[in-house]
Amino acid sequence: MEKAKGFKGNLFFLFIATFIFIFILSLKTPRTYRSTPQPRWAPTPATCPLVSNTTITPLQNTQHFLVSAYMDQRVDGLDVRIIGIFRRDSIQPLQCFFNCGSRCNNSAFLTSPTTVLQHSDNFGFPFVTTDAMCSIPKDCHPTHVTLLTQPHTLRGSDLSWLPIRNQKTNGKETRFKFNFTVCVSNLFGDYNNVLQVAQALEMYRLLGVDRVVIYNTSSGPELSRLLHSYSQEGFLEIVSWPIDKHLNPSRGWLFSQFGGDLHYFGQLTTLNECIYRSMERSRYVLLNDIDEIIMPYQHNDLMSMMNTLQRQQPNTGVFLIENHIFPKKHFEPSGRFHLPQWNGVPGVNILEHVYREDPDRNIYHPHKMIVQPRMVEQTSVHEVLKHFGERYKVPLEVCRIIHVRVALRGPLPLEQLHEDKRLWDFHEKLIPNVDGALQRAGLLRSERES
Ligand SMILES: *[C@@H]1O[C@H](CO)[C@@H](O)[C@H](O)[C@H]1NC(C)=O
Ligand SMILES: *[C@@H]1O[C@H](CO)[C@@H](O)[C@H](O)[C@H]1NC(C)=O
Ligand SMILES: *[C@@H]1O[C@H](CO)[C@@H](O)[C@H](O)[C@H]1NC(C)=O
Ligand SMILES: *[C@@H]1O[C@H](CO)[C@@H](O)[C@H](O)[C@H]1NC(C)=O
Repeated sequence: MEKAKGFKGNLFFLFIATFIFIFILSLKTPRTYRSTPQPRWAPTPATCPLVSNTTITPLQNTQHFLVSAYMDQRVDGLDVRIIGIFRRDSIQPLQCFFNCGSRCNNSAFLTSPTTVLQHSDNFGFPFVTTDAMCSIPKDCHPTHVTLLTQPHTLRGSDLSWLPIRNQKTNGKETRFKFNFTVCVSNLFGDYNNVLQVAQALEMYRLLGVDRVVIYNTSSGPELSRLLHSYSQEGFLEIVSWPIDKHLNPSRGWLFSQFGGDLHYFGQLTTLNECIYRSMERSRYVLLNDIDEIIMPYQHNDLMSMMNTLQRQQPNTGVFLIENHIFPKKHFEPSGRFHLPQWNGVPGVNILEHVYREDPDRNIYHPHKMIVQPRMVEQTSVHEVLKHFGERYKVPLEVCRIIHVRVALRGPLPLEQLHEDKRLWDFHEKLIPNVDGALQRAGLLRSERES
């Protein structure tokens, strides 16, 4: 009896092992994968390619959304990463559907299986940021991709294609268009903190930032005016992010506390989107909010700081910067930078707030990050989720975040805060630059009166 049982057990084990082996083999060979039968679909000029013209594209026959597609061959055997927002409880098998070839009239349409990777940070919300990963079928040079459910009856009209971005031009050495890009995840509500935003953007510029990317769900009227002006000039890239048209986005970070469909208006998705958007064009990416300034304290700009840090930490792609709160209720008493021309401009004047809280080190203290985007696969807000290379906490004396906002540790008396006038070191250039920006947007008082 005993023996027979053991024998059966072995057979069972052998069966499972074979199955696992075949399964692994099937995973290992995606590069030459060519599904049979290929979907037959006769494209018509009217429907092909129907390229999505929005940043949030509902995926037909599912509850999911597609955001953007990027070439990404850093992970063995995979070629394309489609960033999306998926409903966690209804993730079904999917296929990547490639438009191979540059013209609809000579394109082949090929599929390959999709691996859906959910990001580990979902904070309990029903929707999560996902990467749908695919390999490109043999002999396909795709320009566009979308996802199919199975079974799917193909009708051209219900497909929305995403262009595949970050396609390297062969043979050309990568030359970065930008040294530093700031990714500001989301604007929502009627955020209208014009003065602080203008000051932050001009401060970024003085520190060597070449491009700021902002995802806009909604913003106040004056702020919109300011941002449009920056966007015309090319410093700012505004990505429309109408998440509230599709989902009930949460204003908080934790589902159990705030409810809603998705963490903070989709902040985690936009941060990842921005990393991939910047991957081929920016040496570094700063992931911080619009009211935060990543400030070097020993260098005059970000480039000289990063050159030093990178020499000391050559294999590091993720630099963690500690956040420091400058409560907006405490004013610098001399009023030196309480400037009359800013009186009519809505928002906080960060030059007036020079008292810094010590973080409460007994609780989790969040960082923001400077990353080399090519060394990041998935990110969260305060940490990267998947990365190559090392991460490094930058010492406080080298760099901190200046974050003017409501006090985090409200009861702390002024005597327990630290005077920190680092921003003042830049006032000679900062003030005229801010004035110029406000003027170009038609938001300076003198000009509105005249
Ligand atoms: C996108 O395309 C749809 C349908 O063609 C059109 O109605 C809509 O206005 C377009 N949206 C944008 C932002 O161009
Ligand atoms: C077919 O391709 C040719 C060359 O690639 C192009 O000139 C032509 O406009 C295309 N026709 C249609 C209907 O897309
Ligand atoms: C990036 O920084 C280097 C100096 O380290 C400079 O020579 C180069 O012009 C900068 N590139 C851009 C796009 O600003
Ligand atoms: C942000 O989006 C809202 C809603 O679509 C729009 O009214 C506003 O003009 C946008 N602002 C910018 C700067 O694009």
